Amino acid sequence: MRKPLIAGNWKLHKTIREAVELAGELKRDLAGFTGADLLVCPPFIDLVPVAEELSGSSIALGAQDLFWEDSGAFTGAVSGPMLKEAGCSYVIVGHSERRAYFGDTDDVVNKKLNAAISSALTPILCVGESLEKREQKVTKEFLRKQLGADIRGIGAELISRIVVAYEPIWAIGTGRTASPQMAGETHHFIRELFAEHYDASIAANLRILYGGSVKPDNARVLIAEEDIDGFLIGGASLKADSFVKIARYSIM
Ligand code: 13P
Repeated sequence: MRKPLIAGNWKLHKTIREAVELAGELKRDLAGFTGADLLVCPPFIDLVPVAEELSGSSIALGAQDLFWEDSGAFTGAVSGPMLKEAGCSYVIVGHSERRAYFGDTDDVVNKKLNAAISSALTPILCVGESLEKREQKVTKEFLRKQLGADIRGIGAELISRIVVAYEPIWAIGTGRTASPQMAGETHHFIRELFAEHYDASIAANLRILYGGSVKPDNARVLIAEEDIDGFLIGGASLKADSFVKIARYSIM
């Protein structure tokens, strides 16, 4: 049985003061919530104050990225051991915005995945096709190639520590969600890819989150899909009310 994971990706939003305020509201409103794992991923600078605010709650903390080296002359970078000590247990890797604006190639994503795993962080590996690929009807071929490159060389004993997020690029921040059926089918396909690369039990235990314009009013129909195990939420995670609603609808 896969426990749902409801994760907020705050992207480039929230100053320290705003982040602590939102974390405080979530801690209050989700006190005693069970049935799904909860996670927030604020900007780097907010991590430590948010960790302090969340202490004593069951809401986990994650970062939005990491560098693949632990330390060294890499100006501006933040490493896995640093995130771990800051209180993170998760880290997002390969988000399409990192790939588009910061040049994260599949090679880079692969290194970051390995770095996250070696720092005992749970990576949330984001994959997803562009509108162009979807319209050309080559989504499966694209995902097979992207995922294959991202997880290359990672053995079965380590791969069981990752979470995958399917985020079709055309659904991110656009208000255009994948239909439950389309998302469900693609999640199923991703699970099959893990069965091919590893084995049926790894595939069956893998948590696959959906991301892309998830809102309180579409959460229920999406989570009802067999292969959707939770959400990676952007815009709707920036307000306590909508994040809490999505979390609650995900376990009903
Ligand atoms: P939105 O929920 O704002 O579409 O963002 C999705 C996303 O990119 C989460 O990582």
